Formats: sequence, C-alpha cells, structure tokens
Amino acid sequence: QLPKEGRVAWESPSNIALVKYWGKYGEQLPKNASISFTLSHCKTTTQLSFEKKDTIENFSFEIYLDGKRTESFEPKIKKFFERVEVYLPFLKQYHFKIETQNSFPHSSGIASSASGMSALALCLLQLERQADSAMTEEFFNKKASFLARLGSGSAARSIQGNLVVWGKHKSVKNSSNLYGVAYDGLHDIFKEYQDTILLVDRGEKQVSSTVGHDLMHNHPFADQRFKQANENLEKLLPVLASGNLEEFIHIVEQEALSLHAMMMTSHPYFILMKPNTLQIINKIWEFRKSHNSKVCFTLDAGANVHVLYPKKEKEQVLDFIKNQLVVYCQKAMYLCDEVGSGAKSI
Ligand code: PMV
Repeated sequence: QLPKEGRVAWESPSNIALVKYWGKYGEQLPKNASISFTLSHCKTTTQLSFEKKDTIENFSFEIYLDGKRTESFEPKIKKFFERVEVYLPFLKQYHFKIETQNSFPHSSGIASSASGMSALALCLLQLERQADSAMTEEFFNKKASFLARLGSGSAARSIQGNLVVWGKHKSVKNSSNLYGVAYDGLHDIFKEYQDTILLVDRGEKQVSSTVGHDLMHNHPFADQRFKQANENLEKLLPVLASGNLEEFIHIVEQEALSLHAMMMTSHPYFILMKPNTLQIINKIWEFRKSHNSKVCFTLDAGANVHVLYPKKEKEQVLDFIKNQLVVYCQKAMYLCDEVGSGAKSI
C-alpha cells in the first residue's frame, strides 16, 4: 500500500567518466560502454515531499532550488516524469514538492544533471519501496540507475561507488545498457584518487550534450569511436586493477581528447574547449614530465578540466594548481573532489 503522504531525502554524487559515453540510441541507451569514478563532494541533495491528491489526470509538482521556487526546471522534470511513468505508475496520484541543493556553485559549469537526476530518481523509488518491503537492495540500485538514466544518461553511473560501468561490455559481467553496475576491481591507489576540477568557463554551454549526442548519428567517425571506447574500456579494466598509472594516464587523456575530437568533426562542428583549457593541458604535461608526477586530465562536455592524481601527490599537485593553473580559471575557482562511495539516503 502506497503511503498517503510523507517525505524522503537522498544525496547523490556527480561522477567523472574515464571512458566516455557520447552517442545514444532508443530511449537513452548508450552506443558504447562507459566507466566512471563516482565523486564524493560534488553532489545534489534532494528532499521529496509527497501527498496524495484527488485527481490523477496530470503530473503535479513544484521545484525549489536552494529554497527558491524555480520554474525553469519544470519542463525538464515533466519530461522525466513522462519517461519514467510506465516504471513508476503512481506518479500522477501525488503532488510532489521537490527541494534540491547542489554542493557546488550555480553556473559553475559543473553539470548537475548526473547528481540531480540520480537524487530525484532515488527519492521516487524510495517512495515505491515504502510500499514494497520485499524490494532487495540489488533491485533498488538497478532500478534507481535505470530511472536516473532516463533523466540523463550519465546519471545512471551516480547511484553506486566507487567505479561504475554503464553499457553492455563483454568483459563486465552483468553489464547492461539499461543501468549502471558497480565494478569491483579497483586497486587501492584509485580508491582515494583525487579529482580537482578547474572552473575554466562558467557560462552556458553553446551546445548541449543532448544535441552533441544526436550529432553522433551520421557522424563520419562514429563507428570507429564506439569501437575505440569499448576497446579502451577493455584495456582500462586490468589497469584499474593493477594500479598501472602510466597506462591509466594514456587511456584517460586519449578518451578526453577523443570526446572533443568528435565534437570538432561533427556536422555542424563545434568546440567546447576554451583557450585556457589548452593552456592547462599543456601545463599538466610539462609538470608531469618535470616532476615525474602522475597527474593527468580529463574533460567532460565543457571547458572545465578535471585534474586526476593519486592522493600521495596531493600537496605538490595543489601547489602546482595554485601557482600555475588558477590563473586560467574563472575567478580563480576550483573544486577539490575525490573518489566516493555513491548515493546515501538521509
Ligand atoms: O549524461 P549526458 O547526456 O549529459 O552526457 C554526458 C556525457 C559526457 O559527460 C560528456 C561523458 C560521460 O560519459 O559522462
């Protein structure tokens, strides 16, 4: 029996892909498998209050971001509700109040879709779980990831930690295009890997990731790219298990640049990196050589740079960032994060 009213809350992290998802088909299904580190500090906290209503014709919800009613998110959430309704058939029975907060600043250029959509998916599924005490933890995680995926593809990788594979891959048993699965095979050095996110550009992206994914249809290099990503994942798994940082760097940086190469060679073509993105990449390469460091970078669909490095290098890399890289950041802003363990009910 579904509750008449109540409240649930979840916090859910962002994630950073090591092998990238870029290109989809059907209902938010990936053209290649991807793998990501779950992050720890960049997260969304969402509280969902729900109350049964008399009519069941329409979805009914209100959204508050940092305590302020925010109507601009409504179309996105409505679309999400429409997509997940078949899997959560009770949605129209309730009025929802969605109160959400991000740990990272607004318009920092950090995508909140992975953490935001996964937090909302978790809250909605928690409501269902209240009426179904037989629901196992395993089923809950799979379904939460499945629902999150329908909000934003990469959100499928934000439910669990510390390493998640989303997309069917021959070397990952139980992997699926429908949801992400936690991958248990991380060398200790990666369990506390650091990700410092340099905020190069805080503006609106000129091209959304939805449009970017669509441009992979009819992309001249699409098939090669999907093959490369699956092969890179195949190569990365033993590297993640052994802690071979040289190989890790090679694969991760190649993935970041391949992602952006796809953007630069689509029709129409576009560039999301900024001049400062390239300055930072060059500085990282110089520093790695001159300091015998294992620092490397990755990028998501934007100009910001994720600087990845082992915890034992934290002091020297943070000094390097402060001394040489913050000049390329907007308002000298960067965020320190690290590998984390997944979403939490609060
Ligand atoms: O989840 P989306 O549709 O915003 O796609 C994000 C894709 C990348 O961040 C560029 C790569 C990835 O795998 O996270």
